[in-house]
Amino acid sequence: MTTANPALPALTIRGWGIALPSGRLTNADLEQRLETRDAWIVERTGIRERRYAMDGETTASLASAAGHDAIKRAGLEPADIDLLIIATCTPEQTIPHTGSFVGETLGLRCGSFDLNAACSGFVYALVLAQSMLSAGHQNILVIGAETLSHIVNPSDRSTLILFGDGAGAAVVSPATEVDHDAGRGVLAWDLGCDGTATSFLGVTAGGSRVPTSAESVANGDHYIHMHGQEVFKRAVRAIVDSATATLQSAAVSADDVAWFVPHQANLRIIESATKRLGIPAERTVVNLERYGNTSSASIPLALFEAADDGRISDGDLVLISGCGAGMTWASMLLRWGTSHGISTQEHSTQEHSTQENST
Ligand code: UT7
Repeated sequence: MTTANPALPALTIRGWGIALPSGRLTNADLEQRLETRDAWIVERTGIRERRYAMDGETTASLASAAGHDAIKRAGLEPADIDLLIIATCTPEQTIPHTGSFVGETLGLRCGSFDLNAACSGFVYALVLAQSMLSAGHQNILVIGAETLSHIVNPSDRSTLILFGDGAGAAVVSPATEVDHDAGRGVLAWDLGCDGTATSFLGVTAGGSRVPTSAESVANGDHYIHMHGQEVFKRAVRAIVDSATATLQSAAVSADDVAWFVPHQANLRIIESATKRLGIPAERTVVNLERYGNTSSASIPLALFEAADDGRISDGDLVLISGCGAGMTWASMLLRWGTSHGISTQEHSTQEHSTQENST
């Protein structure tokens, strides 16, 4: 479904934060563990290293660290947050949901829930947040957080090279009259899911279809499995179609997009998609060489790094687009900036430990 933004109140991002775990897994480390080579990984994926959760670092702890910074950066207190949405496919536990743990850490008492749309999750959560702002909410904390390192098979070279851990958080609030006059906020979005692709990427065990058992563990069904080439083809198509539909819905051309922030899955997927969309590499945000594919954390990590280093600035048209297991896809076009105060003094990157560990 593709939708142009209807009326007030549109969403603006008034604060953000990111969190990265202390572990670091480089391609050289992988060469020691598997039959693979740094040159192969770089050529086929663009990834050079990933961040890994170490002792005590979990999906909820990363989400809390990013969320804490986003609230502070927005100039708000935890009591000001009236809804928490966590996009994740690697929850803290099956029950209760991750938001419960994050709410406890941050001192929130508002409603909260988890959303699983795999790598499209953060964009799904933003679209949902926009509709909840229309329903009267004022400050929604939206977080994409993952610890995929816990679900990759240590002996599967086709997935172990790809995935990493991290979190990105945004506090979103209704656009003000000033924002509307400046054209800021969400212009259009697109959401979709093709359930014919369920078998190409997923974790088979641990749900109602294949409950966890000694047999499922022995089979390694609790690990992520993937048909890489099929996912690759479908990912390019999904991103191109979804981004195009979003631009068309807002009557905007690719030339008008100041920054394209795609899901960070594979550099070749990004290059293939941007070529078809007509968006040059100079206007595409890529950071996967440092983090790999962090699923629902990947778009906020890339988006907020680019905002922090000054690439994305007030008034820019920003297109974010993701796709993932399901197969889900989601895109959003927004004009960057907010009239809600943002403290640029605070650096949003939270390293859990000053000492980085090699895993
Ligand atoms: O959010 C979405 C999540 N998933 C993705 O985005 C993944 C999309 N797919 C991909 O990124 C790519 O398909 C991979 C990076 C996973 C694989 O790259 P590829 O270019 O599609 O390689 P391939 O599967 O066609 O394999 C080519 C060869 C095979 O050897 P043979 O059969 O030609 O002898 C593989 O066994 O490369 C081999 N191979 C490796 N070699 C060294 C597969 N993985 C590795 C590896 N190191 N890590």
